[in-house]
Amino acid sequence: MATSSLLTTPAVELKGVGVRYQLNLEKVFSLKELLVSKATRLGRQLRGREQQKTRRTADDFWAIRDISFSVPRGVCIGLTGRNGSGKSTTLKVISGVLHPTEGELWVRGRVSALIELGAGFNPDLTGRENIYFGASVSGLSRAETAKRIDRIVDFAELRDFIDMPVRNYSSGMYARLGFALATDVDPDLLIVDEVLSVGDAPFQQKCKDRMESFKKRNKTILFVSHDPQAIQDFCDTTIELKDGRINSPNP
Ligand SMILES: Nc1ncnc2c1ncn2[C@@H]1O[C@H](COP(=O)(O)OP(=O)(O)OP(=O)(O)O)[C@@H](O)[C@H]1O
Ligand SMILES: [Mg+2]
Repeated sequence: MATSSLLTTPAVELKGVGVRYQLNLEKVFSLKELLVSKATRLGRQLRGREQQKTRRTADDFWAIRDISFSVPRGVCIGLTGRNGSGKSTTLKVISGVLHPTEGELWVRGRVSALIELGAGFNPDLTGRENIYFGASVSGLSRAETAKRIDRIVDFAELRDFIDMPVRNYSSGMYARLGFALATDVDPDLLIVDEVLSVGDAPFQQKCKDRMESFKKRNKTILFVSHDPQAIQDFCDTTIELKDGRINSPNP
């Protein structure tokens, strides 16, 4: 690909992405229930596509559906919407934690994601061991991580707790470790879900400053927050989700 087209290629593109969860998978059906369920599904199919496009049926639930947008490089997009509208699911698809049930996506560059508190950490390992593990998942060698670890621990302000198993960490301590690690690996695309809200005010300010510095270096950011002020401060534009679908036009 020519250099000029590389610069104009979006950092993230989603086309018609949907994630469907299958409900009641663990349920043991009697033969009668099984036949009724098959007949119901066949009836739905015979009634046509419209019916299948609803968010919930007896067996399935579409957490997100028909999600299409693209994020140009260097842009910060805020994902907004009420609880359960599909923000974290969308971010999980982009970060590669979840595979979409349908649709296509392209994510270009190194991604670092902070989506669920404590996700990706092994509770039995210490903070230090988790840093080495997490950094290796992001492609850093042990030697590279050794050079960065003091900076990560200092940013997280966890020096006194770094050799303790993370299962004993508070929510805010999880968020500190996660953010410090996710942002130190110098990603091209940074994904930050709600998790920062559990940090105390001074730490939140530090995170905001670091995200500002990412923006200045033309990094791409996807940011979820229920704080309208934070969204307004950081984001160049927003995408609102409602009931698993986009409720605002593609920016
Ligand atoms: N593993 C799962 N199995 C079934 N349904 C799920 C699963 N994970 C999420 N969902 C459902 O998908 C929908 C979207 O969830 P998601 O976590 O993406 O919402 P959200 O917008 O991030 O909400 P919040 O603002 O509360 O964080 C919700 O209705 C949720 O119940
Ligand atoms: Mg969420």
